[in-house]
Amino acid sequence: MTIRLYAPAKINLRLKVLAKRDDGYHQIDTVMQSISLSDEITIDVAEEGLTVIGPPHLPQGRGNLCYRAAQAFCGVWHVKGGLRIHLNKYIPVQAGLGGGSSDAAAVLVGLNRLFGQPLGLEELTKLAAALGSDVPFFLYGGTARATGRGEVIEPLDDAKPWWLRIIKPPYGLSTPEVYSAWRRGVVVGRDEFFENDLEEAAQAIRPELKFVKQALMDDGAVHAFLCGSGSAVCGLYARRPEGTLLNSSDHKEYVARTITRKEYMLSTFGREC
Ligand code: C5P
Repeated sequence: MTIRLYAPAKINLRLKVLAKRDDGYHQIDTVMQSISLSDEITIDVAEEGLTVIGPPHLPQGRGNLCYRAAQAFCGVWHVKGGLRIHLNKYIPVQAGLGGGSSDAAAVLVGLNRLFGQPLGLEELTKLAAALGSDVPFFLYGGTARATGRGEVIEPLDDAKPWWLRIIKPPYGLSTPEVYSAWRRGVVVGRDEFFENDLEEAAQAIRPELKFVKQALMDDGAVHAFLCGSGSAVCGLYARRPEGTLLNSSDHKEYVARTITRKEYMLSTFGREC
């Protein structure tokens, strides 16, 4: 049997960093939002072993979050035989769009579906949180508040819909590096939505990110901000943005839109084929 799922990316409509914790993580308060830009995953039952077939720029074994997600699932639910996972990657990596985390959650959800839903949401959330701080959000999708290190999820009503232009510079940013560049700022009376406390930290590492944000604002974006811990920057638009913005072969551009929880569930629930 084969199952096919989409794994949509996310942006953070707001991201507050509250404090550094004793365990090395940062306490955050964020509102995450699913978007239409998605990876595609198929899972087949195989004779034996676990194989992840993905693009050459991604690790194949334990370095791959899909692989670790499948291992985690098999750790709590005995799977007879093997598994083969195909990953078609469309979400850029090291962009702050949660691509790897969404893939991992899709593998958990897909395997759970494939084997008749043996695990409940609570158990899946535990597995997801152990794979990465962002992963539990992708069990819910739509609009949700995430607190703790990002793993405590409170689903919210769908936010107002937006079109997005996302610009991914030629370099990626490492999440630990951006968090460690974060310094507590004195923020008084600022609009808390459409603000990302990691933006200044990312700009300290890559000052050229300011120009990308400015280009989106000059293009007519209503808001523009860093995606998660970067390096992608997104602009929010009331209408679908036309054409491309930067005449640059090394900056990749994507047009997407926000998606509702219902759309998210339809795309990730997984179709048997
Ligand atoms: O949880 P995840 O493996 O995605 O986190 C990667 C790294 O990002 C952590 O090891 C930590 O350095 C940083 N991080 C953080 N605070 C968070 C989430 C991630 O400092 N809330």
